[in-house]
Amino acid sequence: MLLSASVQERDHKLSLLLDLGAMLAREVELDTILSVLGTRIARAMRAERATVYLVDGRTSELRSRVADLPELDEIRLPKGRGIAGFVAETGEVVNVRDAARDPRHFPDVDRKTGFVTRTILAAPIRDAARRRVILGVVQVLNKQDGAFTEEDEAFLHALASQVAMALEGTTLRPASPTDRGVALRGPFNHIVGHSPAMRAVYSLIQRAAQTDATVLLRGETGVGKGLFARAIHANCKRSDGPSITVDCTTLPAPLVESELFGHERGAYTGADRRVQGKVELAQGGTLFLDEVGDLPAPAQAKLLRFLQERTFERVGGRETLRADVRIVAATHRKLEDLVARGELREDLFYRLRVVEIFIPPLRARGPDEIESLARHFLDQYGRRHDRVGVQLSAAALSALRRHPWPGNVRELEHAIERAVVLAPTTVIDPEHLGLVPLEALGRRAPGSPVSAVDEGGSDAVTLPLGLSLDEVERRYVEATLSAQGGNLTRTAEALAVGRNTLKRKVRPRPERDRRGR
Ligand SMILES: Nc1ncnc2c1ncn2[C@@H]1O[C@H](COP(=O)(O)OP(=O)(O)OP(=O)(O)O)[C@@H](O)[C@H]1O
Ligand SMILES: [Mg+2]
Repeated sequence: MLLSASVQERDHKLSLLLDLGAMLAREVELDTILSVLGTRIARAMRAERATVYLVDGRTSELRSRVADLPELDEIRLPKGRGIAGFVAETGEVVNVRDAARDPRHFPDVDRKTGFVTRTILAAPIRDAARRRVILGVVQVLNKQDGAFTEEDEAFLHALASQVAMALEGTTLRPASPTDRGVALRGPFNHIVGHSPAMRAVYSLIQRAAQTDATVLLRGETGVGKGLFARAIHANCKRSDGPSITVDCTTLPAPLVESELFGHERGAYTGADRRVQGKVELAQGGTLFLDEVGDLPAPAQAKLLRFLQERTFERVGGRETLRADVRIVAATHRKLEDLVARGELREDLFYRLRVVEIFIPPLRARGPDEIESLARHFLDQYGRRHDRVGVQLSAAALSALRRHPWPGNVRELEHAIERAVVLAPTTVIDPEHLGLVPLEALGRRAPGSPVSAVDEGGSDAVTLPLGLSLDEVERRYVEATLSAQGGNLTRTAEALAVGRNTLKRKVRPRPERDRRGR
């Protein structure tokens, strides 16, 4: 009995260490991560309760939750308060065998919750690079049989290092090298933004994620539709199931149906075996239909039926199949217009927009949010390109804050990445950002509601005479790419070339379109 309990404990500990990276790699709500981690740690250590605290870099408080929602009870400890506070200050691992007799124990929390703390083990989460900086504390209470052992201490210490490393890859990493604690850049671990416009989006995403309802994400190019589609999956009860994406623009029309629903052997020339469609592959999970407005008519009819009955047939097949799949769709196009022009079935449109979420353009989120995103990308690409410490000059920052960002977050991300790579010193000046003034593209003035993908917009680029044809081509391609917010797929469409051809033409610049992962 004792033996099997310890074998089980070891299994739980190992699988927790293994799952940690994957858990934090997805766009998950921070509070969910903290509470799931707490449950898993308590189980792995055979303890009654475990709490992961984060040190808020702004206030130095320890927080067990990050959302400022009144309905969630949060434990906030001022610096130095309680065992966790002690650990956050000293960086020591603390093993308390009798809490009642330890003066550092802070009994207020017990009094409020009715919990009786007997034993406590707590370890600091140390910044992976700057070992003296404490990002948080993992605290475990009441070992089921007796006190926490030395082995428990070693495990919690190792776990805390893993948590620290995993945090590096999220938006929780510290805001600056001088910051003491994590940066709470938003309620999800890979999404930046606190503006009122985004808060409204988060709340819809959180609610939608709790159901199986079909979600339609709308918004201009580069606003984060793909990011939020992943967030919906990562935060719903299907998150252990597959998440499958179909990009409806990149597929030639005759192949879309087979891509979605699969085909039988002999369905058409060259179909030498049965192939499962994405709908089948998404069984038990989520199917993300990106650019759903581009779906050709026959596929629209089949998708409509699938949305209504969850049934379909493979191309060339007679057997009716079922799949338990949640649909999330996205589009930057005005679907109402497509319906009016007869290019999108109205009944499909209504079936898709059960929950419709508009993601606001970057310019509607305010200059402070532009700045936080810029700093986030600066840090991210600084690390990726080995240019840690690159700074924005005051002029560059003010240019960023003023720019209307027709290509939204993607355009900002590319501008920063480009500047990180191209700035000759560690200071980024406005010219390194490569911002194309809207006037140069023949657009309306900043501030007016522009969209990089307005159909029928009058774009123009002025080229001096006397350039080589190669240079003319390069500049023209660059300007088109910029007008499309850096989106390779749509630029390729606009220039009527394939994506690969386009990529060759924009090389050796860094890859501009990082669709998917
Ligand atoms: N709030 C955000 N925080 C951090 N990164 C973001 C945010 N919004 C968008 N991004 C990043 O910006 C880039 C563009 O986002 P995404 O691809 O999701 O946009 P999209 O709306 O799907 O664009 P398109 O319509 O062109 O497909 C991605 O690299 C994404 O990770
Ligand atoms: Mg997208």
